[in-house]
Amino acid sequence: MEYSENVHKMGVTLFELLSEALGLKPDHLIGLDCAKGHLVLSHYYPPCPEPELTMGTSKHSDPDFLTILLQDQIGGLQVLYENQWIDVPPVPGALVVNIGDLLQLVSNDRFKSVEHQVLANHAGPRVSIACFFTLHLHPSTRLYGPIKELLSEDRPPVYKETSLKDFIAYYDEKGLDGNSALTYFKCQSPSPTAKGL
Ligand code: OGA
Ligand code: NI
Repeated sequence: MEYSENVHKMGVTLFELLSEALGLKPDHLIGLDCAKGHLVLSHYYPPCPEPELTMGTSKHSDPDFLTILLQDQIGGLQVLYENQWIDVPPVPGALVVNIGDLLQLVSNDRFKSVEHQVLANHAGPRVSIACFFTLHLHPSTRLYGPIKELLSEDRPPVYKETSLKDFIAYYDEKGLDGNSALTYFKCQSPSPTAKGL
């Protein structure tokens, strides 16, 4: 519980810095309730006898605003950068911070959510603790779309507005198939409600 409280405080600071990086007032992302809720998910990856045949976690980006990840010393986390998988080596005392799909959506592609995966490992078990900043466990009718202040004639909205409930429903239905859920929420895609979500 103490870790969760401290992760929340760190999340608030990060959202303030990220708001400023977008040229907005420091409390802008907090005002969108980005730090209002977070979900702590602990992973246990058992040692794998034939790691070349499988994955720990397959390629995905996270369905949240931001993820703060604590990994142990085993390693295996990779991020996709310029079409190459790059290792994210464990650094004692360090946390990994990933931009999630919802921050990409509200920032209208100014921030990009990171595609990542976890390799299966002989050595192990591996333990990681992911804190997802999202509100989807709390019912809300609030709609999320690109922040108005970031739009102009040169920068039209890339995404439609969606509730977090609809976004998560689509993400979960799609599964980790290697494609970004965001594609479905682009302005030129059919409306999520048209699919009965
Ligand atoms: C996740 C995730 C990475 C890890 O939970 O979304 O990507 O290191 N976890 O376990
Ligand atoms: Ni992830």
